[in-house]
Amino acid sequence: MTNPENRPGTSPNAPNSAPNSLAQIGVVGMAVMGSNLARNFASKGHTVAIFNRSPEKTRAVMEQFGSEGAFIPSESIEDFVASLERPRKAVIMVQAGPATDAVIAQLVDAMDEGDIIIDGGNSLFTDTIRREHEVAQRGRHFVGAGISGGEEGALRGPSIMPGGPQESWETLGPLLEDIAAKVDGVPCVTHIGPDGAGHFVKMVHNGIEYADMQVIGEAYHLLRYAAGIAPDELAEIFTEWNAGDLDSYLIEITAEVLRQKDRKTGKPFIDVIVDAAGQKGTGRWTVKEALDLGVPVTGIGEAVFARALSSALAQRQAAQDGDLPAGELSTLESLGVDRDSFVEDVRRALYASKLVAYAQGFDEINAGSQEHSWSIRPGDLARIWRGGCIIRAKFLNRITEAYENDPDLPSLLLDPYFKLELAGLVDSWRRVIVIATQLGLPVPVFASSLSYYDSLRSKRLPAALIQGQRDFFGAHTYKRVDMEGTFHTSWSGDREELDY
Ligand code: 6PG
Repeated sequence: MTNPENRPGTSPNAPNSAPNSLAQIGVVGMAVMGSNLARNFASKGHTVAIFNRSPEKTRAVMEQFGSEGAFIPSESIEDFVASLERPRKAVIMVQAGPATDAVIAQLVDAMDEGDIIIDGGNSLFTDTIRREHEVAQRGRHFVGAGISGGEEGALRGPSIMPGGPQESWETLGPLLEDIAAKVDGVPCVTHIGPDGAGHFVKMVHNGIEYADMQVIGEAYHLLRYAAGIAPDELAEIFTEWNAGDLDSYLIEITAEVLRQKDRKTGKPFIDVIVDAAGQKGTGRWTVKEALDLGVPVTGIGEAVFARALSSALAQRQAAQDGDLPAGELSTLESLGVDRDSFVEDVRRALYASKLVAYAQGFDEINAGSQEHSWSIRPGDLARIWRGGCIIRAKFLNRITEAYENDPDLPSLLLDPYFKLELAGLVDSWRRVIVIATQLGLPVPVFASSLSYYDSLRSKRLPAALIQGQRDFFGAHTYKRVDMEGTFHTSWSGDREELDY
C-alpha cells in the first residue's frame, strides 16, 4: 500500500489539485477518451484522480484542463490509489488487451479489499469474465463497462453499459448517472448484468453500429452512382431524412461528411477518402460470438465482410484489371425509374435493413444473456442507447416500448409497431434490391437483410433438403413433419426408413 505520508496532490505539476481532499473517482489512461471522461466527472463537481503511465500526458492534461475542476494528478499508481476515497473506484481507459491486464495487476496490488476497478475500454467480454474472477480472488471488485459515444460522448455524456457485481453498481451507479447522457431526464446508464454482460452488450452495440453504418453507406452509394446525385445534394437528402423515422446520430454525421469540402483540393471530401474501411475488432467479435451462439446476425456479418472486402485493395484492383464480366447492366433511365421515387425507395430500404440489424442484435443479446444467465432486460438497453452512444436514434424509443409491451418478444420485427412500419417499407426494399442488382451496384446488407426477413417469414425453408442430403451422405438423421421421433433412411440399402 501507499505510504500515507506520500500525500496525493502534492506534485509540482498539480496546479489545480485538491491536496486536502480525496477523489471520489480516478481515471487511469490520459489519452483523449480517458482525459475526456475525467473532465466529465470533474464538470459534475467530483474530485477526480488521474494517472497515466507516461507522466508527461498527465501533466499536459493538467496544463490544458486543470482549471476546469478538481483533479488530483499522480505520477505513480501508488499515489493515484492513495488519492482515492474508499471504497476506491478507478476507471481504466487504456487499450484493450495486455495494456488493460497490466494496469489491472498494478491496481489490484495497490488497492484494498472492496475497492472497485472499472474497465471502460472495448474489452472482449470473455476477458472481462476472466478478469472479474481473478480480481475477485484478490478481494477487489471488477466492473467491465462498455462506454459509447466517442471522444465527444466521453466529455459531454456517453451511454454507459456496466456489468460486474450488483454491489459495485450500487456504489458506482450515482457517479455514472452523473456523467451519462440524459434523454428526457433519464440517464443513459443501467446495470446490464453480472460479470461480462456490460462488455457483451457493448460488443453487440458495435456490431449494430457496423450494420447501421454500412446500410447508410449502401444508401449513399445507390443515390450517388445509380441516381447520380452529387454529395452536396445528398447532404440535404440525409438532413431531410434525419427529420423523420431515421433521425439518428449516424445519419446526422453522414450529412456533415457529405457536405464537407476537401480543404486541399476543394473537391467533395468523400471523394478524396480511400474507400477501404478499417475495423478494430468489436464487429468481428459480435459475429464470431453469434456463430457460437447460433444466432443469425446476417446484417452485422455482411457489414463486417463488406469492410474486409473494401480493404482487400490488391484483390479489388486485380478484379478491375482482370475485367470481371458484369453482364448486361441497366441504368435508372433505361429501367424507367423516376429519381424522386427511387430516393424514397432507398430511404425505406435503409430503414427496413436497419430494423433487421437491430432485431438481430437484440436476438444475440437475448441469446448471450440466456447462455450466461445474465438476465439482461432488452428494453433497458434500448433506453440507454437513446442518447450518448454512436447508434443513438429516435426509433430506440419504439424499441423500448416494444420490449415494455412484451419482454419476451420473439423478434423485434414482430412488434406491432414495427410490423406496421415494415408493411410500408417492404415493397420499396424489394424494388431497391432488384434495381441495384440490375445496375450492378453492391448492396450486401440491404440484400442479405431482405433474405433474412423472407427466410424468417417463410413457411418452408430449403433446410428440409439439407437434412435429406445430410442423412444421405452421413446418416445424420432427420425429423418428420407428421410424427415424433428421429429417423434415418438406409440410402445405400433398401431405402427403408429406420427409427433412431
Ligand atoms: C463507440 C464506438 C467506439 C469506437 C469503435 C470503432 O461506441 O463509441 O463504437 O467504441 O469508435 O470501436 O470501431 P471500429 O474502429 O472497429 O470501427
